Amino acid sequence: MPYYHKLGKVPHKRHTQFRKSDGTLYSEQLFSTEGFSNDYSLLYHCHPPTQIISTDEPINVAPVVAEEKMLKHRSFEGFKIKPEEDYLQSRRAILVNNDCHVVLAAPSESMNGYFFKNADADEMIFVHEGKGVLRTMYGELPFDYGDYLVIPRGTIYQIQFADNHNRLFIVESFSPIRFPKRYLSKYGQLLEHAPYCERDIRAPQNLPSFDEKGDFLIKTKKKGMLYGIHYGHHPFDVVGWDGCCYPFAFSIHDFEPITGRVHQPPPVHQTFEGNNYVVCSFCPRLFDYHPQAVPAPYNHSNIDSDELLYYVDGDFMSRKNVTRGMITLHPGGIPHGPHPGAVEKSIGAKETKELAVMVDTFHPLQLTMEAVMIENPDYTMSWAE
Ligand SMILES: [Fe+2]
Repeated sequence: MPYYHKLGKVPHKRHTQFRKSDGTLYSEQLFSTEGFSNDYSLLYHCHPPTQIISTDEPINVAPVVAEEKMLKHRSFEGFKIKPEEDYLQSRRAILVNNDCHVVLAAPSESMNGYFFKNADADEMIFVHEGKGVLRTMYGELPFDYGDYLVIPRGTIYQIQFADNHNRLFIVESFSPIRFPKRYLSKYGQLLEHAPYCERDIRAPQNLPSFDEKGDFLIKTKKKGMLYGIHYGHHPFDVVGWDGCCYPFAFSIHDFEPITGRVHQPPPVHQTFEGNNYVVCSFCPRLFDYHPQAVPAPYNHSNIDSDELLYYVDGDFMSRKNVTRGMITLHPGGIPHGPHPGAVEKSIGAKETKELAVMVDTFHPLQLTMEAVMIENPDYTMSWAE
């Protein structure tokens, strides 16, 4: 999806002999998430990426749905998800449908002793708290508070956290995560009206190449099962790669909000999209400057989408009792809008410090058991005066 990038050593021509100093060949791998019909990269491994030496019994990690169908406004306390040492165990799917899973995680330890690959879904990991390095077969991506880490499905990775206070908001996307089409030129460059540009997209840097043999466990997720697959060499044995399919980082703080004389609709905040859902970033910005402007959003009837908002930081003028890490879900089918008093209160306000991530899905989301356990039961009636 992003622009062409090259790291490390690659041969002058693709699919030609590329030899190590001992005369043996490097192993070329084509990596794409949509067959041979979309962006791809070519990676050069010290060892073939195919050398499985043993496999473990698979484990079922599919989310357990508690409410498949519902029609009321919901809210969840995301920070009630308990920290877990292990990264994979810390990941709790909260809201799910066939297009994406929304997951919260509070891992307290770096990933040790194994690597992870999501074979089903591209991942968008929003770093609410914590910093560290995302290590991948493409190289390293240092990350910090406010970063979106976008990882194409099939990428092998490991996360190293700087300390044990980490809060992640994750979208697992069963289709490639893309820049919105309308931001792109005919040939894929981000256009002038887009709220970010290529300079804001951070590609992997450094490419430590581990030419090591041994027993390397890659926990691989597919169709709700976690498969332990052991390989006979280190998965980060790439000496070079190039192409347009690779993990990248983008900071929400680099998103340039679009404002106007009157209230701007949510699409101006759009950041990414996948099949049947969009991701938006609500960032600190100046409010509307028409002399009679109403900065609070109007009530709206999202008849064909579920609106999920994840509150990151700052003040949230249109809602009462908002906490950090809270999720609100306004399902398609009933209108929603500012809480009582919020519209009058917003008039005259010059700016907002709100920071939030929105995920709008075009098909309804289902609540998991984990969601039910962290729900604010009073939210549904919180508009009643
Ligand atoms: Fe809304």
